[in-house]
Amino acid sequence: MPSVSNSDELIFFVNGRKVIEKSPDPEVNLLFYLRKKIRLTGTKYGCGGGGCGACTVMVSRYDPKSKKIHHYPATACLVPICSLHGAAITTVEGVGSIRKRIHPVQERLAKCHGTQCGFCSPGMVMSIYTLLRNHPEPTPDQITEALGGNLCRCTGYRPIVESVKTFSPRSPCVVFRGVQMCTKLYDEDEFQPLDPSQEPIFPPELIRMAEDPDKRRLTFRGPRTTWFVPVTLEDLLELKASYPKAPLVMGNTSVGPSIKFKGEFHPVFISPLRFPELHLVKNTENGLTIGACCSLAQVKDILAESISELPEEKTQTYRALLKHLRSLAGQQIRNMATLGGHVISRHCYSDLNPILSVGKAALNLLSEEGARQIPLDGSFLAGSASADLKPEEILASVYIPHSRKWEFVSAFRQAQCHHNALPDVNAGMRVLFSEGTDTIEDLSIAFGGVGPATVSAHRSCQQLLGRHWNALLLDEACRHLLEEVSLPGSALGGKVEFKRTLMVSFLFKFYLEVLQGLRRKLKLSSESADSQRSPVIADRFLSALEDFQVTLPQGVQTYQRVDPRQPLQDPVGRPIMHLSGLKHATGEATFCDDIPRVDEELFMALVTSTRAHARIISIDSSEAFALPGVVDVITAEDIPGANGADDDKLLAVDEVLCVGQIICAVVAETDVQAKRATEKIKITYEDLEPVIFTIEDAIKHNSFLCPEKKLEQGNIEEAFENVDQIVEGEVHVGGQEHFYMETQRALVIPKTEDQELDVYVSTQDPAHVQKTVSSTLNIPSNKITCHVKRVGGGFGGKVGRPAVFGAIAAVGAVKTGHPIRLVLDREDDMLITGGRHPLFGKYKVGFMNSGRIKALDIECYINGGCTLDDSELVTEFLVLKLENAYKIRNLRLRGRACMTNLPSNTAFRGFGFPQGTLVTESCITAVAAKCGLPPEKVREKNMYKTIDKTIYKQAFSPEPLIRCWNECLDKSSFHARRTQAEEFNRKNYWKKRGIAIIPMKFSVGFAATSYHQAAALVHIYTDGSVLVAHGGNELGQGIHTKMLQVASHELKVPMSYMHICETSTATVPNTIATAASVGADVNGRAVQNACQILLKRLEPIVKKNPDGTWRDWIEAAFEQRISLSATGYFRGYKAFMDWEKQEGDPFPYYVYGAACSEVEIDCLTGAHKKIRTDIVMDACCSLNPAIDVGQIEGAFIQGMGLYTTEELHYSPEGVLYSRSPEEYKIPSVTDVPQQFNVSLLPNSETPLTIYSSKGLGESGMFLGSSVFFAIADAVAAARRERDLAEDFTAQSPATPERVRMACADRFTDMIPRDDPKTFKPWSIPIA
Ligand SMILES: Cc1cc2nc3c(=O)[nH]c(=O)nc-3n(C[C@H](O)[C@H](O)[C@H](O)COP(=O)(O)OP(=O)(O)OC[C@H]3O[C@@H](n4cnc5c(N)ncnc54)[C@H](O)[C@@H]3O)c2cc1C
Ligand code: FES
Ligand code: FES
Repeated sequence: MPSVSNSDELIFFVNGRKVIEKSPDPEVNLLFYLRKKIRLTGTKYGCGGGGCGACTVMVSRYDPKSKKIHHYPATACLVPICSLHGAAITTVEGVGSIRKRIHPVQERLAKCHGTQCGFCSPGMVMSIYTLLRNHPEPTPDQITEALGGNLCRCTGYRPIVESVKTFSPRSPCVVFRGVQMCTKLYDEDEFQPLDPSQEPIFPPELIRMAEDPDKRRLTFRGPRTTWFVPVTLEDLLELKASYPKAPLVMGNTSVGPSIKFKGEFHPVFISPLRFPELHLVKNTENGLTIGACCSLAQVKDILAESISELPEEKTQTYRALLKHLRSLAGQQIRNMATLGGHVISRHCYSDLNPILSVGKAALNLLSEEGARQIPLDGSFLAGSASADLKPEEILASVYIPHSRKWEFVSAFRQAQCHHNALPDVNAGMRVLFSEGTDTIEDLSIAFGGVGPATVSAHRSCQQLLGRHWNALLLDEACRHLLEEVSLPGSALGGKVEFKRTLMVSFLFKFYLEVLQGLRRKLKLSSESADSQRSPVIADRFLSALEDFQVTLPQGVQTYQRVDPRQPLQDPVGRPIMHLSGLKHATGEATFCDDIPRVDEELFMALVTSTRAHARIISIDSSEAFALPGVVDVITAEDIPGANGADDDKLLAVDEVLCVGQIICAVVAETDVQAKRATEKIKITYEDLEPVIFTIEDAIKHNSFLCPEKKLEQGNIEEAFENVDQIVEGEVHVGGQEHFYMETQRALVIPKTEDQELDVYVSTQDPAHVQKTVSSTLNIPSNKITCHVKRVGGGFGGKVGRPAVFGAIAAVGAVKTGHPIRLVLDREDDMLITGGRHPLFGKYKVGFMNSGRIKALDIECYINGGCTLDDSELVTEFLVLKLENAYKIRNLRLRGRACMTNLPSNTAFRGFGFPQGTLVTESCITAVAAKCGLPPEKVREKNMYKTIDKTIYKQAFSPEPLIRCWNECLDKSSFHARRTQAEEFNRKNYWKKRGIAIIPMKFSVGFAATSYHQAAALVHIYTDGSVLVAHGGNELGQGIHTKMLQVASHELKVPMSYMHICETSTATVPNTIATAASVGADVNGRAVQNACQILLKRLEPIVKKNPDGTWRDWIEAAFEQRISLSATGYFRGYKAFMDWEKQEGDPFPYYVYGAACSEVEIDCLTGAHKKIRTDIVMDACCSLNPAIDVGQIEGAFIQGMGLYTTEELHYSPEGVLYSRSPEEYKIPSVTDVPQQFNVSLLPNSETPLTIYSSKGLGESGMFLGSSVFFAIADAVAAARRERDLAEDFTAQSPATPERVRMACADRFTDMIPRDDPKTFKPWSIPIA
């Protein structure tokens, strides 16, 4: 029985307002509470697992001991509300608002163009705000650290970083050549200063509460669980004895995800308040003791302080820990997670446990029985019962001894990307030498990521005691390690050979590090024999030792200034801020799920197939119906109209074709009830044959979705007869997840009259949603209104799929008569919706030794998944675009879409071009390698030079392409840097630099005339204000901003008079999807047309009263009964393609560009650092250079992700494993090139488009391949040096695994290789 008095009142503050919750539910997290309970929807749901930062808030707590207030960022999705007693929460709404006062952080983020779709923006604001609360003038490292845990899929981070930099002491201005050019996309003079004294104060009541000595245990009882907050250490120990199985919830970064993603259930939680014993920091003569409840961020500071105070030899373990603490997770997680939670969780990937164990750390335990200490060693980490905590014990602190004089400790880690990524393998290594010698007295090595727990290589270490530290030892140590730490071919997480290689590569790095340190020590200590014997490391090999440092990206953006004669009020061509920028930054921008709960609203959750190809035998919903709150289960039988198409059903009937296919949906009173009920629906299946996942298997089974698409010119066979060389090669390009930050969601509200329905949906194509809902319900389209206010990122993923979700929700709404809300969790979104098509390409190329390509035959296969979706169109575009910038007279291009048992792949920015053209460029790289020429020479040689016709006989002038190429060569100082890279490579064996420049000819638009039409509706009200509606959707690409720029220019009234409310099928019907880069082009022309019609009507009035004001004219027009509303229409470009004749005019125009990237790779780990990227893009006369530069940068970074880190993993049963930001790595701020320059080509025009602008939504994506080819260039340099073939199968993404394995050396040679026939791999390649 509890010995202290109890309270069940939870008290905390949100944005200065006190919250008292009587009996709060321990299962409710802060994100849900903010969004649904107190209606603060600024904080967003992006992943629910702490990995994206969209839900970042600031937590402030008062420490009665230091009497200080501690502010830290936290991901609200992992914060149980019950853990907040005594805390003050600040959300984006508490920072500032348009209604009251915008905070400088919000203002600068918006004005520096750091928001596009705006879904990540509130989280970004909170991370920056918290940073500034702690450091008003942050350093570059602090900025990088602060933003590392926040993902943005749109901007490419550069403008976000720039907005934060404005708070740091000024850096000198960049002087740039060119009179008419401009490098500023914003005006700093407009910014309000940051005044820290204006920030809200910490609630005094919370200070009083914290200092109140008379505290009571808190007990919160929810419907299923109980949460205890003990207030004294004794109370905690008593509770732990009473509930030994209850987790001690500290940061909840391990417990929370286990509950959410692994379905763990705990009836009782214990979550202590701040006890001095558990926050202790004690420095003794022999070591440091750190309280178990110190956060990892605090541990980082504590270690940094010790390192600065103690002699270097004592701090080896601390330095190693600090190194990993810099890259472990994002700063939110580091601030929430505790040392105790980290150690006790014993994750196999733990970054700290391997170091703590080799560093001989010990755990100080407490229970009612008393205190004891156990070693944090291999047995503890392996979970051996005899070496573990007893159930009633808690961890009080961790003791980490100082290192000794002849001791060396190091840490190693390799992950998919530098920061905020779980490691593939990590290691802690320690060696102690007998005083003054190189004789090993003690050695410990532990690895993470190579087994179910941290693995200690104890036996190997024992065998090496007494040995000298030299090359012989290294070889033997590698052999022992590989024997002892054996990783089966089928190991969880895959990458087995890479992991084995990393183990020995890390050991080699350690060997060199120690060798260097030892030589220094031995030299200093004596002229002993050992000092003579210790091998010297040649300078070339020292590069193995340096780790890549992450630096804050910087860059210059150059664009053409508008004509100085252009009226100031005319916004066209100016870098106008995104219309919603400030609303994004304040959280006031409303996304679909921010719409307040509607009366009687119900929630829907989807049940999906767990089999790849099976017959559905039965669906049993009885258990689901028995759960509280469950209202209905919607199956195919409930659909009144059409259930999708015959070969693409909304809800599965009889048969499923992939894992993740939607079978039915549960409707319940809350989202939690609906999701719980989905787990209770029992579906029985009978597996069917064949089951096809890979392109290889699809080809074998002749399983295709549509006929082959083919283009051919010249006489390819004859040309192959007359060339110097022929090369054949293969290219594999992995798929890509859209990873829009706002997952798919819809809200369907049935109206009381005439079967009308309002559908609020996050889509790029509301007309398609409307049509699908109409056919599904058998209700005419005129009764269904689809509304899109804004979309939190689409990238093609919200063209087709939202209609499915809208229609299923609509069936639920009609059947139940209630409004239905459907919001996909991140993992469901990733599972259900397909993405970019993985591609397998084969090429055969014939060329002269000069590098001139005479004949090229490319055949591509894409993995379309189980239904057609957009696969035929993607195949067509792929084939049409494959030639890229090259004129090859004898050319054959073929493409086919494979049908497999995977979720259907769909539209994705670039639509086949980014995958296909990688084949073309890889082929060029291979030709260059065979000719012994630099790839850029071969590119240049084969590029279009004069006005010409493409393979499909469309005429074009490549002049802007050549200009982009030359400017890019020039601006990047390409040739000088190529020479420098070569010089670097000569001097460094283990690090190699690579540089590549890639040209681009990207065709925009759809290959069909009917897709190039648009309409707009412009109303002028009698107060002079203008309401614009058009058919485009705001996805973050700034289309609404551009449309108002057009309207303002045409009507000659300031943008402040204008407004766009939403995109709705009721105002502009029959719209085309906002896609293919032409949204602003075609809708701009429609808006222009409407405005010109209105202006024409106003002309006589203006003529009569030329000195009148806009309002005078409008009033007069009204008086004279002149209509102030007009529809504008654009009939669009002609576009057609005749596949029979293989000719056409499929695209209205081309966007040209070139990008040069330079990287450095670590041949031992496969990691790379992006040194610099220069992009030159032909935007012609940009409508809005800030938006266009933003599109280029964002697309480039997304492309860079496609080609370097974004890797999908499927099980051999076709289940997608990579379903969260931890498992699927999109670029974060630490992945942006250190120097990132973008220039828009000046003096370029196109007569076809509105104001001679170009659509830039997609093209930048492919330029990300310059990073891929720079990596390939660096790998080629390594392979040349190692006498390996320079042209190797190109595989995208160029992950650390692929880079490491391509840089073959004695370590890759020594690892055991498994016969693929002898084991079942963890994952299968589907490209
Ligand atoms: C998005 C994300 C990214 C991550 N990235 C990395 C990474 O790159 N590298 C890495 O190593 N880790 C990473 N982690 C894991 C993270 O380090 C651990 O989740 C964290 O350290 C656990 O600490 P916590 O305080 O949140 O533990 P909690 O979740 O609160 O508790 C975890 C466990 O520890 C027990 N426990 C806690 N304190 C005590 C105590 N004092 N005595 C006894 N038992 C106790 C609890 O009972 C529970 O079983 C990541 C986690 C997330 C969510
Ligand atoms: S939603 Fe919380 S971190 Fe992604
Ligand atoms: S603006 Fe960052 S995710 Fe869209």
